[in-house]
Amino acid sequence: MTGKFISFEGPDGAGKTSVLHAILDRLTPMLGEQLVITREPGGRDNQVAEAIRDLVLSPAYPAMDPWTEAMLYAAARRQHVVETIRPALADDKVIISDRYLDSSIAYQGGGRELGAERVADLNQYATNGLQPQATIYLDLAPEVGLARIQATRQDEINRLDVEALAFHQRVSAAYHDLIAADPDRFWVIDASQPLEQVVADAWDAMQHILTLPTEA
Ligand SMILES: Nc1ncnc2c1ncn2[C@@H]1O[C@H](COP(=O)(O)OP(=O)(O)OP(=O)(O)O)[C@@H](O)[C@H]1O
Ligand SMILES: [Mg+2]
Repeated sequence: MTGKFISFEGPDGAGKTSVLHAILDRLTPMLGEQLVITREPGGRDNQVAEAIRDLVLSPAYPAMDPWTEAMLYAAARRQHVVETIRPALADDKVIISDRYLDSSIAYQGGGRELGAERVADLNQYATNGLQPQATIYLDLAPEVGLARIQATRQDEINRLDVEALAFHQRVSAAYHDLIAADPDRFWVIDASQPLEQVVADAWDAMQHILTLPTEA
């Protein structure tokens, strides 16, 4: 395996999608066809994973059991790893994912209180241990992210966005436990800054990450 796998993580409304979009404008001229942008739940050109995304994010299913939810995320991830991420890495691509495994540990493990370790164990079936070489974490108090979403994205508030603030505080705490356990993988960025500054910091991190040696 020769490519690079990078994930973007952080609470709802931290700016993951906005920042990724902005740095894409700079990465595309550098990397061209070598760059693959993908997301979770779901995945680039991944019909199965995107179909599971539609199901798991739909507000139409308030009765969904937390373990059902966790297993659906893991199932989507399995398909994403097998069909999208591993082939891209084998093809020497730089693959950047808007969310990956850490999100399940934070949201289902922490937010839904299933337990970080148990959700990590479940996801062994999905990832076979595949972790990103680097994770850009957009750090933001959950209430700030929720306020951003409520102010600007009223039309697309999904099932998790409407969870109580306590849920999002557990998500944030679980993310911070992950960062503390694996500080070398995480590049933590202050996402409370103006978007241009968050983009500038993410771009600096990305330039460092792209010079890291690839894993054999
Ligand atoms: N640094 C910032 N300052 C102020 N507003 C921001 C900032 N970053 C993003 N926003 C705004 O906050 C909203 C949420 O941003 P975005 O969708 O990029 O977050 P996200 O992390 O991808 O959220 P989600 O986890 O829900 O997908 C958008 O309307 C965006 O314009
Ligand atoms: Mg997003």
